[in-house]
Amino acid sequence: MKIAFAGKGGVGKTTLAAWVGDYLARKGAHVWMIDADTALSLGQASGLPAAELPAPLVTREDLVRERIGQGLISISAQVDDLPESLAVGLPVSSGNDSGGGKRLLVMGTIAAAGGGCACSANALLKALLAHVFLERDDYVMVDLEAGVEHLGRGAVEGVDGLVVVSEPSFRGLETAAAISELAGQLGLDNQVLVLNRTAAVPESLAVEGLPERVISFPPIQGLVERQLASPSVLGLPEQDEIDERVGRLFALLEEGRCR
Ligand SMILES: Nc1ncnc2c1ncn2[C@@H]1O[C@H](COP(=O)(O)OP(=O)(O)OP(=O)(O)O)[C@@H](O)[C@H]1O
Ligand SMILES: [Mg+2]
Repeated sequence: MKIAFAGKGGVGKTTLAAWVGDYLARKGAHVWMIDADTALSLGQASGLPAAELPAPLVTREDLVRERIGQGLISISAQVDDLPESLAVGLPVSSGNDSGGGKRLLVMGTIAAAGGGCACSANALLKALLAHVFLERDDYVMVDLEAGVEHLGRGAVEGVDGLVVVSEPSFRGLETAAAISELAGQLGLDNQVLVLNRTAAVPESLAVEGLPERVISFPPIQGLVERQLASPSVLGLPEQDEIDERVGRLFALLEEGRCR
């Protein structure tokens, strides 16, 4: 299962990606955590010290030149060794003896523009993502750049579940609806809306075009306190409550894949 997390800035995409990935790893899954955002926060949200964060692939001109070149873009770039060689292991929270694990790949924004070899860098990112999606039978969590503009075919091709994250506000939901519509046009219909920092899903939402399936995540007080001291969103006192929601979210995504 390949799950992408999209939404407006600051709504909780990275937090949810970290929670779902950690939940699956604790259940024994092998999970690729893919940071496809310039903010590069998925590693730290998952408990990795900043000093251990790898350089984003989009900035690795050496590799881009080696694998893609600067002239004609090769869509058959050799990338099958890259997931292992570029990834760093992420700690799995609390007492993991399930055999599962998480590995972080830091890509940078997939549609990044500008710079001498941005186009080639983008081709390498896409080739690597496609490889992880299509050739690996693992779970993949993709933390996308905020907003609608970055949602393109390259970012969602091969993704089979989209989590659209929103705050419970009209403006936030409008962005969520725009993301949902665009993803639908790209063929990604298995979508769940997460209303973050919301105790319960309201009976009706005033915005049209939102994903039909909706789940809420309540405000987590332990995270509010944690944020002052650390960027990690894992190992919170409310872990059971978070896991219960994550389990429901995951079940919705699995069910949607079979429809
Ligand atoms: N349910 C929640 N309860 C309390 N705090 C939360 C909750 N969800 C997210 N947060 C906090 O809100 C902040 C924003 O979350 P996060 O970084 O996951 O958002 P994002 O959508 O990835 O942002 P960006 O667009 O900058 O990438 C973080 O400090 C996070 O710890
Ligand atoms: Mg983020």
